Amino acid sequence: MRDNLPVNYAAVLYDTYTTESVRPWDDALIQRMVEEFKPRFAQGILLDIGTGTAQLLVKVAQAPALRSLRFIGMDLFEDMVAEARQTVQEAGMEDRIEIHAMDAHTLTYPDNYASMVMSRSTIHHWADPPQVFRQIYRVLVPGGVAIIHDIRRDPDPALLDAFNAVRIGLGIGPTDLSLKYTPDETRAMLQEAGLTAVSTVAAPDAGPGALGYEVRIKK
Ligand SMILES: C[S@@+](CC[C@H](N)C(=O)[O-])C[C@H]1O[C@@H](n2cnc3c(N)ncnc32)[C@H](O)[C@@H]1O
Repeated sequence: MRDNLPVNYAAVLYDTYTTESVRPWDDALIQRMVEEFKPRFAQGILLDIGTGTAQLLVKVAQAPALRSLRFIGMDLFEDMVAEARQTVQEAGMEDRIEIHAMDAHTLTYPDNYASMVMSRSTIHHWADPPQVFRQIYRVLVPGGVAIIHDIRRDPDPALLDAFNAVRIGLGIGPTDLSLKYTPDETRAMLQEAGLTAVSTVAAPDAGPGALGYEVRIKK
């Protein structure tokens, strides 16, 4: 098992990147959360695993269709947690969004806690992805859904070049593909977690999602 992987740039720089440069991927994940929302989730919790600086979580919480939910973002690293709390404060959303410092491998939330879970660009950071997948399943309420998006190790080179050009322009360098997983490797990790029957891995071949893949887990 490898160690947890911290982001290799400062939280403040990462914040600029997530605020300005990933809108198509923000929109794609927001749309998926809206599609997966069910009226019976109203008053429930949407949990963001590895929330980073919470820029995406704030945008998700602003989606009118998700207005009835409470939102919790959690992250392992203190600089991200501090930036995330500042993001929430600046958005004036402290009454709707809480930020917790925690390791995704050892979530302290009770079983059947969150109606929805989301996570983005995180699987490749986890020391033990099957363990985190098990934790996500554990904290979902029966009928709850988790949507996880990550970059694949083997994307279309043209899509990758365009993505990296933006990152290089912002000074955070190209993404390190060697740390990422393929959709099939992720399916194998879900199998190791015992979640094959309740999960799917979708790898779109067009649009912003083609840079990566989506894990869907339904309890
Ligand atoms: C590439 S960033 C993505 C941040 C955010 N999800 C986004 O899309 O903007 C990955 C995040 O995962 C967090 N992370 C890494 N390992 C973690 C763990 N074991 N538990 C919780 N968070 C973790 C990092 O601190 C970082 O904020």
